[in-house]
Amino acid sequence: MTGSGGWRGWRAATQDALYGTDGFYRRPEGPAGHFRTSVHASPLFAGAVARLLCEVDEALGRPASLDFVDMAAGRGELVTAVLAALPAHVAARTRAYAVEIAARPAGLDRRVEWLPEPPPEVTGLLFANEWLDNVPVEVAEVDPAGTVRRVLVRGDGAERLGEPVSGAEAEWLARWWPLAGEEGLRAEIGLPRDTAWASAVARVRRGLAVAVDYAHTADARPPFGTLTGYREGRETTPVPDGSCDLTTHVALDACAQAGTPAHSPSAPRLLSQREALHALGVTGARPPLALASTDPAAYVRALASAGEAAELTAAGGLGDFAWLLQPVGIADPLAPPR
Ligand SMILES: C[S@@+](CC[C@H](N)C(=O)[O-])C[C@H]1O[C@@H](n2cnc3c(N)ncnc32)[C@H](O)[C@@H]1O
Repeated sequence: MTGSGGWRGWRAATQDALYGTDGFYRRPEGPAGHFRTSVHASPLFAGAVARLLCEVDEALGRPASLDFVDMAAGRGELVTAVLAALPAHVAARTRAYAVEIAARPAGLDRRVEWLPEPPPEVTGLLFANEWLDNVPVEVAEVDPAGTVRRVLVRGDGAERLGEPVSGAEAEWLARWWPLAGEEGLRAEIGLPRDTAWASAVARVRRGLAVAVDYAHTADARPPFGTLTGYREGRETTPVPDGSCDLTTHVALDACAQAGTPAHSPSAPRLLSQREALHALGVTGARPPLALASTDPAAYVRALASAGEAAELTAAGGLGDFAWLLQPVGIADPLAPPR
């Protein structure tokens, strides 16, 4: 603990609670022991990412070596499933990387290189599913006098207000999440996420970077923020003691701008997971009833697959996740045909 009486900002407290020596994300059970991401929900998700990698491969002119970077890889579930879903002729040219703070799991496919940060030069697809929401941020709150102050937290989750927010953090709030002066309004200062995303995108020489997360944009920020915890499948009070995940939704519009170098010819694009997966052929359409009599086993399999696709694209659920597409030196591979 640092600061007077163990009080400190949420950013430092979260950093220790999630990534410290005994941090939540260093536990052997991994993220899948506590919540379900799209990666865990269905192999259809990895299939769609594999298809996206193939689109990027085509846009790059089928390079001799094609990179796939699973950024914030958990236990490597996505990269493993993507390798399995790729056509053999693409898999043979693919260099697969898992980027993770936690240690490499035993038994992981030997083709996967396990790294603490992205490779310096990527030609291909860098895919970050539910990474940025776990990049620790400060929380700010308006006090009774209308001043925006840093929220300080103790190891047991108790909060109090600290010093006024100033400098680059105040500028970020003014630009991306202005607090209107009403007591109790809160915001999460996304600056470290902008920096993290810009630095990941900067590694992509040519190809596509994608961030997928719960997100909001400037037209609809949540007035009291989104900080929450998850433990063993349940949402819980956020306490920075290493016992639970600590997460806040992502200001992805700010990340998009930070990830776009000045004078870049390629514009970033935000779309919903529903739209992105539809563009990649995951629709949730039910199989034709006639199949039930001609091939009952195939019908049952197709029905199960349609159920999984429906979960991945559901309004009010995973379908509402946002995909930030950041093309580098190629056209947006999911752009609708003109
Ligand atoms: C919510 S989990 C997502 C895991 C996986 N992408 C999925 O969708 O199932 C977030 C993961 O990000 C990892 N992480 C957070 N910051 C990271 C960083 N800077 N570099 C590498 N991994 C990071 C955490 O250790 C954790 O495993």
